[in-house]
Amino acid sequence: MGWLSKAFRLLLISLSTMALSVSGIGANWGSQATHPLPPETVVGLLRDNQFQKVKLFDADYDSLRALGKSGIEVMVGIPNDMLASLATSVKAAEKWVSKNVSSHITTNNVNIRYVAVGNEPFLETYNGSFLRTTFPALQNIQSALIKAGLSNQVKVTVPLNADVYESSTGLPSGGDFRADIHELMLAIVKFLSNNGAPFTVNIYPFISLYTDSNFPVEYAFFDGNASPLNDGGTIYYNMFDANHDTLVWALQKNGFGNLPIIVGEIGWPTDGDQNANREYAQRFNQGFMAQISGGKGTPMRPGPIDAYLFSLIDEDAKSIQPGNFERHWGIFTFDGLAKYRLNLGTTNSGALIPARNVHYLERKWCVMKSSARLDDPDVAPSVSYACGLADCTSLGYLTSCGNLDARGNVSYALNSYYQQNNQLDRACKFPNISTIVKTDPSVETCTFKIMIQPYYGSAERRVGCIQKTWGLVVGLVLFLCRIL
Ligand SMILES: *[C@@H]1O[C@H](CO)[C@@H](O)[C@H](O)[C@H]1NC(C)=O
Ligand SMILES: *[C@@H]1O[C@H](CO)[C@@H](O)[C@H](O)[C@H]1NC(C)=O
Ligand SMILES: *[C@@H]1O[C@H](CO)[C@@H](O)[C@H](O)[C@H]1NC(C)=O
Ligand SMILES: *[C@@H]1O[C@H](CO)[C@@H](O)[C@H](O)[C@H]1NC(C)=O
Repeated sequence: MGWLSKAFRLLLISLSTMALSVSGIGANWGSQATHPLPPETVVGLLRDNQFQKVKLFDADYDSLRALGKSGIEVMVGIPNDMLASLATSVKAAEKWVSKNVSSHITTNNVNIRYVAVGNEPFLETYNGSFLRTTFPALQNIQSALIKAGLSNQVKVTVPLNADVYESSTGLPSGGDFRADIHELMLAIVKFLSNNGAPFTVNIYPFISLYTDSNFPVEYAFFDGNASPLNDGGTIYYNMFDANHDTLVWALQKNGFGNLPIIVGEIGWPTDGDQNANREYAQRFNQGFMAQISGGKGTPMRPGPIDAYLFSLIDEDAKSIQPGNFERHWGIFTFDGLAKYRLNLGTTNSGALIPARNVHYLERKWCVMKSSARLDDPDVAPSVSYACGLADCTSLGYLTSCGNLDARGNVSYALNSYYQQNNQLDRACKFPNISTIVKTDPSVETCTFKIMIQPYYGSAERRVGCIQKTWGLVVGLVLFLCRIL
């Protein structure tokens, strides 16, 4: 072997280790919160904890602007409700790309690398609503990226739920795409492959545990001692590996064994269900991080895994249709505090760094008056009103506030409503039963929140400014009319 080819191989090796070192870990940054942290604060949080990648569910202007110059790789998202219009109109797709990709790359220096077209559009709960629009929207966005000259730098993908594939044998090697969408999946996969784009999948051992009471708990974890699965000599010790490789088999069986895979969402919630707690979440996420930083991969795909943790921060306005745990996926609480130690394989050595400069409302809470009686006929309707509008997902069997007594329960609900309404006096006027206190009613694992100050995006600030300016003009005119 000549020195040239040796040098070439060395170059290849150093290139591949470079690829390994930049792959890192990503985070999902969702925005379904009543009081989101300001985008600059979230970007600070991402940088302080050395996340190299972030995945968004839309293309919020302020979030993208804040990510500008951060160097963080960005996956922007297109919500499912936009798929229909993007599927039918190339112009709409071009506009979307121009406004939400091109302009951010050129004027704000945002490192956009992927466009996620839809979010789990083939989930069975959507009743097939997006089956006809997802692929055409994907094609139109790709054409728009080509037209904008960005198709080398920005790749399209569709984050899919893991039930787009299944195994006829229960083993990874039996993997194939779901029969009812087999043809569609092949068309999408072929398209991704032709355009050098990755397959994105969300894998949730927690959901398996939640929906199937026979699911062996230990099999959900990376360090569990569940009885392993033997797939023709390949041994699977945990669900993530087996599920991931079921996809690899499905791709391979259909001729796309080398298609890159991104794990778009992976994580564990900390509240709202008996299996959702900080111990399990830490164990799961740390186990996954160990797998990532070792560059170990899965039996079918040894090597680095490209993945985004779900999620960065809790979102208190998410639908709880999937379950009460839905608002508790964050590794950080709504106000950017770390929930547990998590070594991200960066320099943080285990202690997550909390958000900086978080502005809270006053230290006060709305609780049930000591003179109020539990059998007061106003109690039940007040609690259901408060819980209906605010967030009571931390109440219930084996949750963080599951040990509260009945009065504690009522107080928790009233306070949640009060805080969500920015501690407005009228949000603590439940007839005869509520009062405002200055001593923290929190007990053990159960935190009675103090809300953070509301953040107004640039659009709201503009409207507010116009309103104020008009107010000033009108006031001045009235004043002048009176004195003249
Ligand atoms: C850009 O993205 C935002 C947020 O997802 C969306 O509301 C807006 O309609 C998009 N712009 C265009 C021109 O499609
Ligand atoms: C799906 O169908 C079920 C039953 O027909 C219905 O309850 C549900 O609202 C539908 N969901 C959507 C997203 O259309
Ligand atoms: C507190 O509220 C939760 C959720 O509504 C309920 O499951 C629980 O039984 C209540 N506890 C008491 C002691 O009333
Ligand atoms: C408050 O309680 C008092 C005495 O228990 C009762 O007379 C009054 O009607 C109650 N007020 C409301 C608004 O329920």
